[in-house]
Amino acid sequence: MRKFVGVLVLALLALLIVPFVAAQSPQQASGRDLSWVFPVADKVQPAAAEDSAPRHVPGSSKAYTPAQIDDLFNPPDWFPEEHGPLPSIVAHGIADKAPACGSCHLMSGLGHPESSNLAGLNATYLMREMADFKSGVREDKARMNKLAKEVSEEDSRAAAEWFAALEAKVWVKVVESKTAPKTYVTKSRMRLPLPSGGTEPIGKRIIEVPEDPARTTSRDPHSGFIAYVPVGSLAKGKSLVENGGAGKTIQCSICHGKTLKGLGEVPKIVGVSPEYIARQMYGFQTETRAGSLDVLMKQVVEHLNDDDILAISAYLASQKP
Ligand code: HEC
Ligand code: HEC
Repeated sequence: MRKFVGVLVLALLALLIVPFVAAQSPQQASGRDLSWVFPVADKVQPAAAEDSAPRHVPGSSKAYTPAQIDDLFNPPDWFPEEHGPLPSIVAHGIADKAPACGSCHLMSGLGHPESSNLAGLNATYLMREMADFKSGVREDKARMNKLAKEVSEEDSRAAAEWFAALEAKVWVKVVESKTAPKTYVTKSRMRLPLPSGGTEPIGKRIIEVPEDPARTTSRDPHSGFIAYVPVGSLAKGKSLVENGGAGKTIQCSICHGKTLKGLGEVPKIVGVSPEYIARQMYGFQTETRAGSLDVLMKQVVEHLNDDDILAISAYLASQKP
């Protein structure tokens, strides 16, 4: 009897513990690895060389120290001749409250995979997203939700019109590969190759790294990214995007335009970071992105699994913006 009670207690404990563990880490618990979509800073960081000397990037006559590069209220503007006068919200943000848009999205709008590419998006779309971040129906708790609450309608419009007028450019090269560089995620959630080098099997992940880490960490708007994607994902993604994968989803061009470069207020989805695209697809699925027009995406993502989302993200990123 005592033995039986012991087993029963253990079983009850297991019932209590298992959901707790699962809640802590649903991605690992179910054997999924979505760490490529939702980057989290690694606890152990490779030793960085202390260097406070001014940095340069090719083609710019400017110099900024690392402290200046990471000043989120006055980020570097390496190529001022490439754009018109910067709205103050883009160049400086709001003192002590909202960092400059240009710090995370770059003055070119092209951004990094952990943020987003705003260049050439429709201004009405951009303003709607700001409103969705402000009301919280679209989640990005640590950054956009906080920041959007501080930004006035007027500043939001100035930023939206500014980014909408910038040119969408090729910013990520997509390569099918069985392996990917070994990487780590920095404290600012940037995925970088390990300084010690090496490669590892790619598995079911997209590994997106800077072409030149030193330039990317300097916020250079001329140095883009390489995305390593599993072999076969481009063809699979093309079929889902163009034909809906035999009823699994809906042809993207119906709403995003023939070339997927956007249709009115519906955004472009080509030539942007695959990590970003995947993050949005999961956002629509889990309704952490549930703004007024996001309901239209609900039926698109409803039946997509992890492999489908990966393939779609790889294919869209590989297309010209
Ligand atoms: C501290 C970094 C940071 C700053 C500063 C920042 N953003 Fe963002 N922004 C992000 C991140 C991260 C995302 C991606 C959120 C996600 O994955 O959904 C994002 C996404 C966006 C999007 C959604 C783009 C899309 O395609 O739907 C818009 C619009 C946007 N930001 C506008 C702005 C504006 C305007 C400013 C300045 C007022 C700004 N951001 C400042 C980090 C930042
Ligand atoms: C029925 C119309 C419709 C179809 C079909 C559709 N979309 Fe969308 N999609 C939208 C709308 C509308 C938005 C913008 C929602 C908003 O304003 O927040 C959007 C937004 C997106 C975004 C977010 C873009 C960004 O910058 O954040 C992605 C990614 C996306 N769609 C991918 C796809 C893919 C992939 C397909 C095809 C498999 C697809 N969509 C098919 C209507 C559609």
